[in-house]
Amino acid sequence: MLRTTNLKVEYKINPLGMDEPAPRFFYQLSGDSKAQSAYRIIVTAECGKTVWDSGYVASAESVQIAYKGEKLVEHTRYCWKVRVKDENGLESPWSVVEAYFETGFAETSWSAKWVSGRNGPGNLTAPERMFRDFNIPGKITKARLYITSLGLYEAYVNGEKITDDCFTPGWTDYYHRVQYQVYDVREFLREGANTLAACLAEGWFSGRIARVWMDGKPTYGNHPLLRAELHIVMENGENMKIVTDEEFRALIVEGPIRMSDIYMGETYYADRENENWRIPGGDNRKFGVPVHAENPNVEIVWQSGESVRRIMALNPVKIIKRPSGTYIVDFGQNITGRERFTLKNTVAGTTIVIKHGEMLNSDGSLYTQNLRTALATTTYTCGASDAEVYEPTFTYYGFRYLEISGWPGELIADQISAQVIHSNLEVTGTFACSSPLLNKLYSNIVWGQRGNFLDIPSDCPQRDERLGWTGDTQVFANMATFNMFSATFYTKWIDDLNSSLLNESLCFPAFAPDPIRIDKIPATGWADAGIICPWVMFNKYGDTRLLTRHFKNMCHWLDWQVANANGSFIVKNAIYGDWLNIDAKTPENFLSTAYLAGMTRLLAKIARLIGFNEEADRREIIAKEIREAFGREFFSADGEISAKTQTAALLALNFEIVPEHALKKTIEFLVNDIAVTRGLHLSTGFLGTPLLMNVLTKIGRIDLAYDLLQQTSYPGWLYPVTQGATTMWERWNSWSDKDGFGDVGMNSFNHYAYGAVGEWFFETVCGINAVSDSLGTRAFKRFKLAPQIGNSLTHAAAEYNSIYGRIRSQWKRSGAKVSWEFTVPCNTSAEIIFPTSSISHVAGLETTEGISIGKDGAIFAAPGNYRFEFTL
Ligand code: BGC
Repeated sequence: MLRTTNLKVEYKINPLGMDEPAPRFFYQLSGDSKAQSAYRIIVTAECGKTVWDSGYVASAESVQIAYKGEKLVEHTRYCWKVRVKDENGLESPWSVVEAYFETGFAETSWSAKWVSGRNGPGNLTAPERMFRDFNIPGKITKARLYITSLGLYEAYVNGEKITDDCFTPGWTDYYHRVQYQVYDVREFLREGANTLAACLAEGWFSGRIARVWMDGKPTYGNHPLLRAELHIVMENGENMKIVTDEEFRALIVEGPIRMSDIYMGETYYADRENENWRIPGGDNRKFGVPVHAENPNVEIVWQSGESVRRIMALNPVKIIKRPSGTYIVDFGQNITGRERFTLKNTVAGTTIVIKHGEMLNSDGSLYTQNLRTALATTTYTCGASDAEVYEPTFTYYGFRYLEISGWPGELIADQISAQVIHSNLEVTGTFACSSPLLNKLYSNIVWGQRGNFLDIPSDCPQRDERLGWTGDTQVFANMATFNMFSATFYTKWIDDLNSSLLNESLCFPAFAPDPIRIDKIPATGWADAGIICPWVMFNKYGDTRLLTRHFKNMCHWLDWQVANANGSFIVKNAIYGDWLNIDAKTPENFLSTAYLAGMTRLLAKIARLIGFNEEADRREIIAKEIREAFGREFFSADGEISAKTQTAALLALNFEIVPEHALKKTIEFLVNDIAVTRGLHLSTGFLGTPLLMNVLTKIGRIDLAYDLLQQTSYPGWLYPVTQGATTMWERWNSWSDKDGFGDVGMNSFNHYAYGAVGEWFFETVCGINAVSDSLGTRAFKRFKLAPQIGNSLTHAAAEYNSIYGRIRSQWKRSGAKVSWEFTVPCNTSAEIIFPTSSISHVAGLETTEGISIGKDGAIFAAPGNYRFEFTL
C-alpha cells in the first residue's frame, strides 16, 4: 500500500497568505507499493464545505498538481487531503497530517495606508518606531497580522516580537513589488487594551545598498514606509480591523538603535532602551505624533519566497587578546550573520566597538580592506544593568573574525556567539568521499550558499556590494538546488529578475533586484540567468509555470541580440567577458554568439515543453542559423578554433556548436591546453569554469576531469582549500601563504560562483541525474543513476532528497572491485548505468527483484534499495 506524506502547497508547508489563484499541490509517497496510478485531492473551505474534489484522476503525478476547484476567496483557510491508488488499484488512506493554506489579499485591496513618521528626504537615519493602541471588547477566536514595509520592519504585539523571521519583508524589485507576510498573532492579543507596534529601518529600500554607485542618492525612495492590517475575529462572530492610517503614532524621540544599515552596521545605545513604547499605556507615549500617509506605486504580493532565519549559532574556537587590549574572536568558519553577546553588571556609557572581517593580516590584526566602503561595525554603548544581551537587528555581516575593542573586563567564550543567518531552506543534499580535500571543498560550497542565500542570491555578503548578480547565480543554481530545496527562493527571485528589466532594452539586468539600473547593455552570461534559472526550476522541481510566465521576456532577450546583429547572427554584448579568467581572454563576440546559440536551442526546447510548437519550430531554425554563422566566424576551414582559450572551447563544446570538421581539433586543443600548456590547470573565469568538469566528462576524459579537480596548486578548486578556505573565494588566490592577499578592489572570501563544480559530485561522481524531456516528463520522476568512478577515489556517497523523495547513490571500490548501493524513491524509476566495461560483471543483476532490462539493453530499477558488486 502507499501513504502520502510531506504535503506542500506552492512548495510550502501550510502557508499563510498564499494568493496564487490556482495553487499547486505536492506530496511524496512511501510504502511497499511501487507507483501511483491515480490521485484524489479534496479541498475544503474553513475545513468545512468542499470547494474541490478532484475525484480519482488517473495520473502518476504527485507534484505540480494545480487546483481546479471553486474560485478561492480571500482571508480563508483551506484544508486539503490526498489519497492515491497504487499500481494495482489499491487505495491508500487519506493523508494524516493537517494540511492547509490560507489566502490573503488575492483580489481585495488593502484598507491600510502606507505610513511613515518622516516627511521629505530621509538621510540614512535611525530606525523609527510606530505604534497604535486599540481596545478589544471581548474574546477572540482568530487574529492575523498582514504586514509589509518599504524598508525593513520588526513588529510587536503588546511588546512581544511576533516572529523569528529576520529582514522582513525581504528584498524584491521595490519599484514594482513588495511582499507581505502574514502572522497568526492570536496568542499575543487579549481582551481590553492592546498595542500594535513596529520598528522600521532603511534596509534594502533606502539604505546605502540602494544608493551604491549613486553618490548616496536615494533610488527606490527617500525613507521607509509601513503598511499593516490586523484582522481579528471575535468569539461573537464580529470582525475587527486595525490598520495603519493617520491614527498610528510615531515616536519623535529616537530609540536605542541610533543607526542601522546593511553595509555600515548598527549603533546601539542601551541606556535608551525602553520597551514601554510598544505596550499599552507605555509611559513614553507622550512623544507620539500622528504619522502621515503616502501612496507609492508598488504592488503588494504574497510571499512566494522563504523567510530568513537564524539557522544556527557558532561558538568561538579561539579568543586572542592583542597587546593593544582589543580581542580577536575566531569562529573557525566564515559565515553570514551577526554576533550576539551577553554582558553582566555593565557600567553606563562604556562603548564596545566590534569590527567584522573574513581574514587576519599577517600581524594578527583584522583584515577589513576588502570590505571597501562597508564599515560593517557594531557600536554598542552600555546602559547600567545586571545583564544585557544584544544582537544587531537590521544589518548583517560576512565574517569569521571579530575585532572587539572596549570590552569591559575579560571576554570569555560563553559571552559571545555568531548567529548564522540565511533563507530557511531545507537541506536536500549531502556528499562525502574518500578525499578529505574534496569533502572540505564541498563544505565550502555549502557555506558559500548559506552565506549568499539571504533572501536573494547575492555575489558576496561582506563588502559594499551584496547584490543579486545574475551571472553568479545562473552558474550556481543547479548546485544550489542539490544542496537545498530552493524552489521558493528562486521562484521569488526569478519574478524579481523579470520585473527588473533594463530601462532601455527591456532585457534582463546584471543584478536583480536592481535599484540602480546602471548597466545600459545587457550582458552575456548574466542576462541569460533569465532563461537558465527557470530551466533549472523545471529540471529539479518540474516547474513549468515559471517557464510559461516569463517566456515572453526570454524571447525578447534573444530577439534583441539577433536584431542588433544586423542579420549576421554574430553578437557582441559580453560586457563582463569571461570574468576573472587567468590571462586567457576570450573575445567578446565569441562568448556572446556561443551563448546566443546555446540559449536559442534551449528556448526552442522550452517552447516545445510548454506547448508553443510554432515558436519552437521557429527557434530551432534560428538556432541552426546561429550555429552555422558561429562555425563560419570562429573556425577555420581546416578545423582550427580561432579563440585559443579553454573557455572558448568549453562553450562551443558545451552548446554543441562546434562544426563537425573542427570537433577533433577543438577537443585536442582543450585537452592539450589544460594538461600540457597550463600544466594541469584551468585558465577559465566565471563562464568557463562551471563547464570544465561536465565538458571533460562529455568528451570522454573523465580521467582528466578527476585530475584537474584534484589539482592542489594555483589555479584550481583545491588551491584555496590548501590555503585554509572555509568558504568559496572570489579568486583562486584571494589569499595565499606565498603572496598574501589578492587584489583588494575585489577580494571576497565568500563568493559562491566557483562552487558550481559541486554539481559534478552529484551528477557524475555519484551519477544522480534528472531526466527532463520535451514530452513533459517531470524532474526525477524518471532519473538516471550513472556514477563515473575515477582512479583517485575509493568511495563516494551522495544523497538527494528530490521532489519525489530520497535518492541515494554510494559506491566503494577496492582495486577493480566495486560495490554500489542506491535508492530509488517510491513512484519513480531510474535508468541504471553501471560503471563497468560489461554488465556481465554485475553479479545477480537479472535475478534482482525490481530490476528490468529492456530489449535495447537499458536497465531500469523500480523503487527500492539496491546493492550490487561488480568489477570495473
Ligand atoms: C561581483 C561579481 C559579478 C561581477 C560582474 C562583481 O563585482 O562581485 O560576482 O558577477 O561584479 O562582473
